[in-house]
Amino acid sequence: MEYLTFHNGTAVPQLGLGTWQSPASHVTNAVVFAIRDAGYRHIDCAAVYKNEPAVGDAFSQLFPRVVPREDVFVTSKLWNSAHHPHDVRPACLQTLKDLELEYLDVYLMHWGIATRGGLGGNSKKMDHLAPVSIQETWHAMEKLVDEGLVRHIGVSNFTGIMLVDLLTYARYRPVMNQIELHPYNVQERLVQFCQGMGMCVTAYSPLGRPGNAITEAEPDEKAHHLFNEPIIKDVAASLGKTPAQVVLRWAVERGVCVIPKSTSEEHIMGNSKIFDFALTNEQMHRISSLDEHFRFVDPIAWDEVPYFD
Ligand SMILES: NC(=O)c1ccc[n+]([C@@H]2O[C@H](COP(=O)([O-])OP(=O)(O)OC[C@H]3O[C@@H](n4cnc5c(N)ncnc54)[C@H](OP(=O)(O)O)[C@@H]3O)[C@@H](O)[C@H]2O)c1
Repeated sequence: MEYLTFHNGTAVPQLGLGTWQSPASHVTNAVVFAIRDAGYRHIDCAAVYKNEPAVGDAFSQLFPRVVPREDVFVTSKLWNSAHHPHDVRPACLQTLKDLELEYLDVYLMHWGIATRGGLGGNSKKMDHLAPVSIQETWHAMEKLVDEGLVRHIGVSNFTGIMLVDLLTYARYRPVMNQIELHPYNVQERLVQFCQGMGMCVTAYSPLGRPGNAITEAEPDEKAHHLFNEPIIKDVAASLGKTPAQVVLRWAVERGVCVIPKSTSEEHIMGNSKIFDFALTNEQMHRISSLDEHFRFVDPIAWDEVPYFD
């Protein structure tokens, strides 16, 4: 395992396990296996994934008998419908209860979009947007740090300009921006900006969502298959590694965290074997040349907000 360091010195393991679309019936085993058997020390959760109680079952089996709580970095996220300052603390408390934890290592604002609905809401479409600014929500999240419910706060899906604005009023600076990052969406300038401002970047959908690769924005688009790209296959064959390991290593070498999702023990184990080899500069450049600014996740499909345009 390799670690990145926040500006306050906290270490974050570069490899984490994603849990989006992990069914509750499978995610408990996936988290236990990842931590107990495959060496993962970082789990990525979110209230909107609707499986935090099942992840909490795993944590209750693991902490402290198998591993001390403080050795595992746990992320969760505030959903869009709970942005109102009155909803932020209850949303965090619900997540802590579901995860059976006393604190989160980082709590992220999932998107910079506030929608109506309150806790448990999952509203869609623009007429459900709520008149709550990111600033109000951020200040409510800062109070969670003061109270010790979360160790750090950060953001997800924030663009450069959103970060510039946030930094003008943040009492606690975001430690992390979790963004969609894979060879089809390299985002070099945003990664450099975040790192230059002292923020860690976490790559979501780091494998390009194999097996689930139809973009939400363009559901009819033919699925991309990163693992079938000749460049990825060539590099993997030359190193005796799998395409998944090569794609994850490419991200790790850019100094970002990766959180591949899997409920398959074989994949969880395979995805962890990325710290015993390196890519050459030429291999890094070849993989980055696959960039086409392609997103698998885009809120235009569900909020009608042209977020990234
Ligand atoms: N902040 C956000 O807005 C946001 C958005 C999206 C995702 N995320 C986070 O990022 C995590 C990862 O992203 P993601 O789930 O979208 O995509 P991903 O991790 O790129 O891909 C997940 C898919 O890859 C399969 N897979 C995993 N390892 C594999 C391997 N070695 N070989 C072949 N297939 C493999 C998984 O199936 P199996 O389970 O069968 O292995 C699953 O279908 C999420 O789970 C979530 O925690 C955050």
